[in-house]
Amino acid sequence: MGIFDKLLGRTTKEEETHMEKLKIGIILGSTRQGRVSPQVGEWVKGIADKRGDADYEIVDIADYKLPFLGETDGSEPGIAAWNEKLASLDGFVFIVQEYNHSITGALKNALDFAREAWNNKAAGIVSYGSTGGARAAEHLRGILGELMVADVRTHPTLSLFTDFENGSVFKPQDLHLDNVNLMLDQVLAWSGALKTLR
Ligand SMILES: Cc1cc2nc3c(=O)[nH]c(=O)nc-3n(C[C@H](O)[C@H](O)[C@H](O)COP(=O)(O)O)c2cc1C
Repeated sequence: MGIFDKLLGRTTKEEETHMEKLKIGIILGSTRQGRVSPQVGEWVKGIADKRGDADYEIVDIADYKLPFLGETDGSEPGIAAWNEKLASLDGFVFIVQEYNHSITGALKNALDFAREAWNNKAAGIVSYGSTGGARAAEHLRGILGELMVADVRTHPTLSLFTDFENGSVFKPQDLHLDNVNLMLDQVLAWSGALKTLR
């Protein structure tokens, strides 16, 4: 690019890549009927969209109808679609619920169904459960290390007792708002940095 292009404010392809908004998927970790994860995911997306600093979208594992890994010949279209969706994203926010002190089987299966599409990206975790889903979130961090996903420190934890009515209607306390924004700050910083590695 010449001096005139620069003076005219023209950008190179490389600069355009850096200027593009990051794409962040908000992944719903539960798939059971009657699940509350869509309420939590929409709440996070609402906070994120107000920032206007990235393209945020809900990614619902249930939409992909993934079989159990290895039980089929792998030709189900949802498997390829799942990988394509992950590949199109720069970072993730996992909506994590605690099942028997860990993550759901559905989320573990979905994590196992991709490899390169996860690598060198960043993630935040928003969890819920009787103790804020903390045990499930810590299990997820171990898995993310193996998948080369950099999980950020700030971790909003929602209580089934004080952030939900009857454990089913999501009514988050105001105190979580700052934590969600801080978590998103960290996810965007690391997603942008790791994009340069890919
Ligand atoms: C199979 C199962 C196991 C659960 N185990 C735990 C648990 O160990 N700790 C906990 O805090 N909550 C546990 N719960 C309660 C869930 O965290 C709660 O039902 C939550 O709403 C589940 O998320 P979902 O509605 O998005 O599926 C469990 C729920 C299910 C269905």
